[in-house]
Amino acid sequence: MAIANRVEAVVGSKEDAGSKIMRHAGLLSGQLQQLRTRMYPPKSEKTLRPFLTNEVSKLTSIPDSTLKLMSTEGRGPVPSRLENNHRVYTLAQINELRELFMMQKPSDALRFLPRRRAGEHLQVLAIANFKGGSAKTTTCVHLAHYLALHGYRVLALDLDPQASLSALFGAQPEVDVGANETIYAALRYDDAERRPIHDIIRKTYFDGIDLIPGNLEVMEYEHETPRILANKSSSGAIFFERLKLALSEVEADYDVVILDTPPSLGFLTLSAIYAATSMIITVHPAMLDVASMSQFLLMMGDLISVLNESGAQLDQDFIRYLVTRHDPNDAPQSQVVAMLRHLFGSDVLLPTAIESTAVEAAGLAGNVRYTNSNWGRLGAIPTSVPARR
Ligand SMILES: Nc1ncnc2c1ncn2[C@@H]1O[C@H](COP(=O)(O)OP(=O)(O)O)[C@@H](O)[C@H]1O
Ligand SMILES: [Mg+2]
Repeated sequence: MAIANRVEAVVGSKEDAGSKIMRHAGLLSGQLQQLRTRMYPPKSEKTLRPFLTNEVSKLTSIPDSTLKLMSTEGRGPVPSRLENNHRVYTLAQINELRELFMMQKPSDALRFLPRRRAGEHLQVLAIANFKGGSAKTTTCVHLAHYLALHGYRVLALDLDPQASLSALFGAQPEVDVGANETIYAALRYDDAERRPIHDIIRKTYFDGIDLIPGNLEVMEYEHETPRILANKSSSGAIFFERLKLALSEVEADYDVVILDTPPSLGFLTLSAIYAATSMIITVHPAMLDVASMSQFLLMMGDLISVLNESGAQLDQDFIRYLVTRHDPNDAPQSQVVAMLRHLFGSDVLLPTAIESTAVEAAGLAGNVRYTNSNWGRLGAIPTSVPARR
């Protein structure tokens, strides 16, 4: 018996590979579509829930009593009332309050509204690691939520053709994102089709967070770039500069840009690293993942020296490691975390993203319900509920 037959006898069936994969793809995408429509009726849209007075107080450092007094005296934004008559504020109203207090107490302005000031540059934060499942996208979403809740203006940019980030912000990559509506539109090499980055930015349900969605189209950039490099035909910026240049057009509109990168070290990830002013490398504390991260760091080191040789300087404010999907009760994980801390010291962020079924379930439902308590240890705040219309 030939080796292929012997292996096949061990693993299974006779169907040819192409048709089996196509059949499985069809089955799975059909099932996912069904699940999605059941959990998320097509007409449903995500909304951000409003916040109770005590939550607003925690977020803004404006005392409860002041908020209540303002409301009774009719000053400031008018909160809605719940059935039990408790006051609730939208995030837009919370930001209104922030601006109000900032104006009233200029000496304390930064406490009320931590947006960047004159002379401070835009923070472009790349979340990277070519290991899939290291919680890059989850980290992007939670960080974006956290920053927006605290009054920052955030642009979330999906560079991953799998577009999970877009999906979590309610832009289903196959349905809601059309041709030339991803970041590819702003990066592409053909002048006729290229669009200003401003035109592809969309608002999200979350006040203070804008999104540039992704879908399979962004892969075009990985295909086109080597062609352009090979025949040196392109006029304009070389590949790794294009993202940075595009972002500079909307520089004034944001405090933080968060880049969700694909699980590969291609031209998109490289562009992200070049555009970034800081970087978080997410790492799941398991030996295989750490081995893969080691490869990632080696390759990135090589690529950065190539960039340096071509005259490009990387100048990042910080690079940190974030331990993700962390189970503190798991002994092997603890060993890995201890090793990382020993090797990289304070570059490994002290708080870790704890493995939690709440986060996982939220991901499955396409719905992020809790902001991660790691960002400032604020405690879990349910932030989004799917509204049924
Ligand atoms: N803290 C966590 N607890 C439980 N599950 C998590 C946590 N963080 C991420 N996940 C899950 O792990 C999977 C991979 O996360 P994801 O953010 O998509 O990784 P990446 O973008 O690096 O591929 C997802 O199913 C996500 O819901
Ligand atoms: Mg991802």
